[in-house]
Amino acid sequence: MSNFMEWVDRRFPATKVWNEHLAEYWTPKNFNFWYYFGSLAMLVLVIQIVTGIFLTMHYKPDASLAFASVEYIMRDVPWGWLMRYLHSTGASAFFVIVYLHMFRGLIYGSSREPRELVWLIGCVIFVTLMAEAFMGYLLPWGNMSYWGAQVIISLFDVIPYLGPILTEWIRGDFVVSDATLNRFFAFHVIALPLVLCALVFLHIVALHKVGSNNPDGIEIKDNKDENGKPLDGIAFHPYYTVKDLVGVVVFFMVYLGVVFFWPDGSGVLLEKDNFAPANSLQTPPDIVPLWYFTPFYSILRASTSDFLLILTVITGVAAVATFFIDTKRSNKISAFICYALLAVGLSIFDAKFWGVVMMGSAIVVLFLLPWLDKSPVKSIRYRSMPFKIAVGIFVIAFISLGYLGMHPVSELSTIQAQLCTILYFSFFALMPFYTAWGKTKPVPTRLT
Ligand code: HEM
Repeated sequence: MSNFMEWVDRRFPATKVWNEHLAEYWTPKNFNFWYYFGSLAMLVLVIQIVTGIFLTMHYKPDASLAFASVEYIMRDVPWGWLMRYLHSTGASAFFVIVYLHMFRGLIYGSSREPRELVWLIGCVIFVTLMAEAFMGYLLPWGNMSYWGAQVIISLFDVIPYLGPILTEWIRGDFVVSDATLNRFFAFHVIALPLVLCALVFLHIVALHKVGSNNPDGIEIKDNKDENGKPLDGIAFHPYYTVKDLVGVVVFFMVYLGVVFFWPDGSGVLLEKDNFAPANSLQTPPDIVPLWYFTPFYSILRASTSDFLLILTVITGVAAVATFFIDTKRSNKISAFICYALLAVGLSIFDAKFWGVVMMGSAIVVLFLLPWLDKSPVKSIRYRSMPFKIAVGIFVIAFISLGYLGMHPVSELSTIQAQLCTILYFSFFALMPFYTAWGKTKPVPTRLT
């Protein structure tokens, strides 16, 4: 075996890579529950690719055959039902895991220096994952697939001048059709999975360059022994490979429980309207996306003309206030111009336009997190009370938006969504202030 490894090592850096990324990759010894989700996300990516390959063997990317081919997979292909449920449940599991993974980054300050690139690549992964899920959802060619795609693609219509050309270009037709199904299939089964795998590779390379953060938010590289090994570090392998296996077992218990006993999640994981084939003459009563898009969908729907009026007044007042309150002349003028332009923009463009802008901004703002957070400490364990309260409110607002997005709109739910939208954006917009405010706890020099 050692002769064989020597032979390989002379031609390929196998042992070097193994040591650098596993056996001698020094990892903080205090990883907790929140650190399961990175490895679980990788596992689910593999599950999605493998089950996707089997589904592709029998699926027909043709508008006249797609729906029936999925039924065929479910009823006639041996184990086809299992592959399909593993894949459809896997999509939801992926988002549960990624949302928890991102939340961990938020509460432990993992996006902060020196891990900004790890976070930014993560954000690109998140956007790609959304595109992957959106395109995959059209493939069964159910009625909700069809109308969901129709609604979301038509959002691009609001872009001045370019909108109509762009939507036609995305669909490849004047409406969602066979051409749309074919290109979404191409993106879903090959282009985006390749991009995702490449991004995950970059994510890990970037992480291993700077090393992992931990629940204390202390850099273990600051305390090394005479051999250069961090005093609070343990080898990733075998310690965390074994720990992660515990996470994998628990994950499979929950995931397979859903796959075998609750695959449609009572309409949350597989929507009821998608059990009927696409019908361009019959719009489902409520067009709603799957749960993982609903927080952003709610933000889109929150934009009404009344809401814009309120926002115009708020930004107008903010423009005047900064003009009088800010002491620096350059700040005064630039803030005034920004707010004034926003107030004018809000009154010129319609609610649909701003709904799309707000929905897009809700995702773009995630990219800014490393620079919005001004706290002197990283981990929530040592942060000030205002940060903890802000995180609590943010979680409630985000879950409420998700819940509201899954249900039909009413006057009350629109007001609730508008309130939660304001809370969502305030969390980020006010972050530079409340993270710098309040008393933080002293951070220990070594891991606790
Ligand atoms: C396919 C999706 C993803 C995969 C497979 C993945 C994988 C991983 C893995 C294996 C780790 C190291 C283990 C751990 O810290 O849990 C990690 C760390 C990290 N990931 Fe991801 N990730 C994904 C998506 C994201 C997203 C969407 C974000 C944020 C927008 C993100 C941000 C981070 C950060 C900041 C770290 C460092 C955490 C720390 O050291 O405390 N990741 N990721």
